[in-house]
Amino acid sequence: MFDALALKKQFPIFTHHPDLIYLDNAATMQKPLCVLDAERFYYEHHNANVHRGAHRLATAATDAFEGARQIVAKFINAASFDEIVLTRGTTEAINLVANTWGNGLVAGDEIILSSLEHHANIVPWQMLAARTGAVLKIIRLDNTGAVDLEHFANMLSNKTKLVAISHVSNAIGSIQPITWICEAAHRVGAKVLVDGAQAVAHLSIDVQALGADFYVFSGHKAYGPTGIGVLWSQSNTLNTMPPWQGGGEMIATVSFEHSTYAAAPYRFEAGTPPIAQAVGLGAALTWLAALDRPALLAHENQLRAQLEIGLAKLSGITIHGTSADKAALTSMTFDKAHPYDVAQFLDHKGIAVRVGHHCAQPLLHTLGISGTLRTSFAAYNTEQDVAAFLDALSEALELLS
Ligand SMILES: Cc1ncc(COP(=O)(O)O)c(C=O)c1O
Repeated sequence: MFDALALKKQFPIFTHHPDLIYLDNAATMQKPLCVLDAERFYYEHHNANVHRGAHRLATAATDAFEGARQIVAKFINAASFDEIVLTRGTTEAINLVANTWGNGLVAGDEIILSSLEHHANIVPWQMLAARTGAVLKIIRLDNTGAVDLEHFANMLSNKTKLVAISHVSNAIGSIQPITWICEAAHRVGAKVLVDGAQAVAHLSIDVQALGADFYVFSGHKAYGPTGIGVLWSQSNTLNTMPPWQGGGEMIATVSFEHSTYAAAPYRFEAGTPPIAQAVGLGAALTWLAALDRPALLAHENQLRAQLEIGLAKLSGITIHGTSADKAALTSMTFDKAHPYDVAQFLDHKGIAVRVGHHCAQPLLHTLGISGTLRTSFAAYNTEQDVAAFLDALSEALELLS
């Protein structure tokens, strides 16, 4: 049994907002006390800049920062710590790849995206295509909201240079068969970037088993701080990529005529990095790894099942995204009420949900809708949360229709 109620006590936000029912976890997750403590401890005991000082605090700060990199590497089963580039988040990690590896593309090269991507996994590739003449190809979805694998397979050719795809859709929850996609893409010599923003907190990620070339995610969607994220790639890929931002920390030598660059990952970490945030991320992943992950996943899926059974008893609700392999995330619209009005009603009851296009406008356009109301679960959500949501929703629909 997964004891979510006991676990919830570790999250100070619920002490300060005892009636809060937080179902907006796909946007950002709440942080356990140990994460907040780790950042505070770092600032109180170790604060200094990293990699450059001779004094003991600088050494302690560097150890804390590099220790976090080691934790990330272990958490996703990277072969080595130097495969981990610490970024500001998923968005920055994708932009980094687009602006370094991507600059090797030429006119006519193809980049395959799916119809369900977050804007962070669309716009950087559009900008790259505009710079290089590369062409974007979009995989359609089947009627359950799963990526159409036959369409994808038919799209692959020796022109395909990259497949950029989310592991889990933030808008409708579909889980993509990443290993299968990587194998198919590699057969034509293409690389695969996986946007793991919605996967890391829920699925056990083993980058070696998945077989992707790039895996990216954000700390704040995995119980960690904002302002920190991860780009994973193998060292031999990272070390063939030119740097992106220039500055301190990323160089080997600098003269006015010429600079040479550090090896990865430091080549991609110009300037003072987000040190305390990295420490917080390390604490978050350590905390998460200590949970019974299969039990956590089963708990989240059980909450989604409870929710969807309850929704089926109410009329006039459409669930968008019904793929067989789906995360604990439910996107819905209402026949007789606007999602925004429902969300406002829920907010008055202390229930936090997400409404809108979820930064996936092309997907919503494909679905023929302008927005949904989305619930998404995390470790601290309980059956009582789901029951309260269903009661409040039923009240809202009665009032608004
Ligand atoms: C699937 C997906 N990709 C990318 C992002 C962007 O993440 P961030 O804003 O942390 O960079 C998000 C955030 O919602 C997301 O859900």
